[in-house]
Amino acid sequence: RHQPRVFSGIQPSGGLTLGNYLGAIKRFVQMQDSGIETLYCMVDLHAITVWQDPAKLRHATREICAAYIACGLDPERSILFNQSQVAEHAQLAWIFNCVARMGWLNRMTQFKDKAGKNRENASVGLFAYPNLMAADILIYHATHVPVGEDQKQHLELTRDIAAKFNNDFGVDFFPITEPVIEGTATRVMSLRDGSAKMSKSDPSDMSRINLTDDADTIAKKIRKARTDPEALPSEVAGLAERPEARNLVNICAALSDRTADEVLAEYGGRQFSEFKPMLADLAVDRLSPISSRMEELMRDTTEIDRILGAGADRARQIAAPILKQTYDIVGM
Ligand code: ADP
Ligand code: NA
Repeated sequence: RHQPRVFSGIQPSGGLTLGNYLGAIKRFVQMQDSGIETLYCMVDLHAITVWQDPAKLRHATREICAAYIACGLDPERSILFNQSQVAEHAQLAWIFNCVARMGWLNRMTQFKDKAGKNRENASVGLFAYPNLMAADILIYHATHVPVGEDQKQHLELTRDIAAKFNNDFGVDFFPITEPVIEGTATRVMSLRDGSAKMSKSDPSDMSRINLTDDADTIAKKIRKARTDPEALPSEVAGLAERPEARNLVNICAALSDRTADEVLAEYGGRQFSEFKPMLADLAVDRLSPISSRMEELMRDTTEIDRILGAGADRARQIAAPILKQTYDIVGM
């Protein structure tokens, strides 16, 4: 019943990482190129669930837009915009605050991770964040959402909210959205800790590769990445108890568009002292064209703001009638 439509977003809460690129943006580009209608957002309202320096927030928002374009998103073929410029996201989120149950949100593991021990001092926004995410998606009746594995639970909540709304009001209005979590890099791990995901908000810069890192920095981070002293196995099964080794193999596979087994067919039996320099060269080779294009685009922030303004106008044309219908269903 619902025409295929793709939505996803990234928080401007810092510079982009290799995890964001391999787990999200690469897939965004593939979906755009497959000809489906695609909307990609800078989710600044999500970023401020923890305090952000205003100047840095503005910079990071433009920089993600530059990264989107540098990675192959085309502002004509994809709608690129800033969440806060389309008020319908926040308006639908309020409705969903009234649909979602406290118990559902209490189960969200990302809130527990991000709030840490000091839950009482977390913002209300951080707790209610998944309702806003559901609104981001459902305000466009999006049918598919490409994301990394860390967002799986939030996507399930989005489906629960859509189903409860439809059921509460006896309508078949919101689609039950499908997460698209595919490939070898759906969960890129920290270079310092094989049990934590690589994140732009990790305090240690050595834990991640940033899209803006220069070649020397990328090489140094990969050289210093935590590993174990064993040689590489010849099959993926041999990586089961070796999270750091598995992570580097997966990164290599994703960067070279191969499977992890194909990578191991080539490097099985070799030491990390050989594998790491090869991986560093590969990463530099893939990322340096992106970072130089980003730098070029960031020299003209007026043009970026123009792209974001035009994108928001197009997004609003889809969102406004869906919000109007929602209000109508609710009796407002
Ligand atoms: P971050 O955690 O880096 O702040 P976001 O929450 O803004 O990233 O997520 C943006 C997108 O990038 C989401 O689709 C998320 O699932 C994906 N993503 C984030 N970190 C990783 C990772 N380490 N590996 C794979 N995908 C990731
Ligand atoms: Na995240």
